[in-house]
Amino acid sequence: MRKKIVAGNWKMNNDAAQAEALIDAIINKKPDTSTKVVIAPPFVSLQAAVAQTRGTNIIVAAQNMHQAENGAYTGEISVNMLKGINVNTVILGHSERRAYFGETNALLAEKVNTALNHNLTVIFCFGEELADRQTGSHFEVVERQLREGLFHISESDWSNIVLAYEPVWAIGTGETASPEQAQEMHEFIRTLLRNNIGSKIAEDTSILYGGSVKPDNASEIFSKPDVDGGLIGGASLKADDFVGIIKGMA
Ligand code: 13P
Repeated sequence: MRKKIVAGNWKMNNDAAQAEALIDAIINKKPDTSTKVVIAPPFVSLQAAVAQTRGTNIIVAAQNMHQAENGAYTGEISVNMLKGINVNTVILGHSERRAYFGETNALLAEKVNTALNHNLTVIFCFGEELADRQTGSHFEVVERQLREGLFHISESDWSNIVLAYEPVWAIGTGETASPEQAQEMHEFIRTLLRNNIGSKIAEDTSILYGGSVKPDNASEIFSKPDVDGGLIGGASLKADDFVGIIKGMA
């Protein structure tokens, strides 16, 4: 059975003290335990976040990692560095990594392999740009991102994959996809999985929606049959909003 998940991608926000305060506020609001709650603080706060969330239902994820095991890659973070501080989930393929740091589908396939080889859970992000949607090529773009970045993995690794559809035009813009647009794409993705990977995996894989999800639109988006939760940016930086969105999942 697929899980309901609400994940907060903090991006490059919150220093150590702010991160601690935000996690404290989230824990104090006791988010619903039937939903899997994930937070992805910046690298420097991961270790403290793991300690702070011990004994809660909150899972700590990294926002990125390097594809190599180790080596001369100044400024980068490896999979074993994450595992060494008990971070077992990583976001890969975020559109900001693709757009600003040149991450291609081929590179992401390498990162996915490294993460899965070490048994990490991967929250794999993808989604079309505005121009793709305007020209009607959004399904094609999404299919290519999935085929080139992810569909090569073995059947047994799919239990460590969470998909996150994030249309770039809806990220940080306040313009969210309508619940119908989200459902249409999520249904397309699940059908792709069913036809290319298998029906059990299609049924069991959680597909999150991301892009301007707020407490007042979350429950309508989450009520769609193929939407299993959300990947939240801006609204995950405020405890009230983040917990409000988690409530929208219940
Ligand atoms: P916003 O919720 O700020 O639109 O960001 C979505 C996102 O990019 C999450 O990864």
